[in-house]
Amino acid sequence: MSRNSGQWIVDSGQWTELSKSAIYCLLLTAFCLLSVGCRYDMQDQPRYKAHKKSDFFRDGKAMRELPEGTVPRGFLREDKAFYTGKTDAGQNNAAPNPAATPATDAAGNTLVTDFSGLISEFPVPVTEELVDRGEQRYKVFCIVCHGPVGNGDGMIVKRGFSKPPTYNDDRLRNAPVGHFYDVITNGQGKMNSYASQVPPADRWAIVAYIRTLQISQNPNGSAQMTSTNRATNSNTQTMTSDNRSNGSNTAVATDANTVGGVR
Ligand code: HEC
Repeated sequence: MSRNSGQWIVDSGQWTELSKSAIYCLLLTAFCLLSVGCRYDMQDQPRYKAHKKSDFFRDGKAMRELPEGTVPRGFLREDKAFYTGKTDAGQNNAAPNPAATPATDAAGNTLVTDFSGLISEFPVPVTEELVDRGEQRYKVFCIVCHGPVGNGDGMIVKRGFSKPPTYNDDRLRNAPVGHFYDVITNGQGKMNSYASQVPPADRWAIVAYIRTLQISQNPNGSAQMTSTNRATNSNTQTMTSDNRSNGSNTAVATDANTVGGVR
């Protein structure tokens, strides 16, 4: 009846060792399994996804409006001139370039001639780096339509897109820098807004480069280059900013022949 007890008899000391480690093993496995199974953290809580509906809020939207008077982190745009290109009076008007009473040219372009409410001095120091950056960005975003020197003869226009007005006439030479910034930001007529592609600092860089182009095409017309801080002698043209930081103006385009883009 009995099994060969000789084979089954285990030394009691050995048995205890074996069963101990087996129990440890089991416990460890159970612990691991349980700790995974018991994972109740934030990922399991009820939550909303962007643009989904909500049964909780009365308006049915999961995405909430900002409470009045609050500003998301990183969006405190205190320097209004820098972010809008408008003067304090211009800020109050919601529409872009509101005071403008535009006419239309033969190509159907809006010819803005009233630039009130727009700032006429750069809100950033105009440095060589700024103009270089502007050149680079202009060649990425604007040259395709506005052309290498701003005459509105870019490749897309050559292939049929409607021709934008040239930067190189008195109307736009005398237009305040805020106008260019405003058009990049809000678009105008047939031109789209570039606000989502070109951040504010780059917009100013592009505006500085447009001024450079204007100088390059009109080397002796110094008095027209800036609405304020006009250059006093025709050989030295300055692009000025109000240089809040140090109060000194930086001349960047002193010789029309060395201006970027037309070397
Ligand atoms: C797809 C072609 C296209 C591109 C790209 C483009 N523009 Fe324009 N832009 C136009 C056209 C067309 C107009 C004339 C719009 C109108 O008045 O209907 C215009 C108008 C303007 C004006 C207004 C000029 C005026 O008469 O007051 C400015 C300033 C301007 N663009 C700057 C820029 C800058 C800066 C960029 C690059 C960030 C840019 N544009 C990119 C086509 C373009």
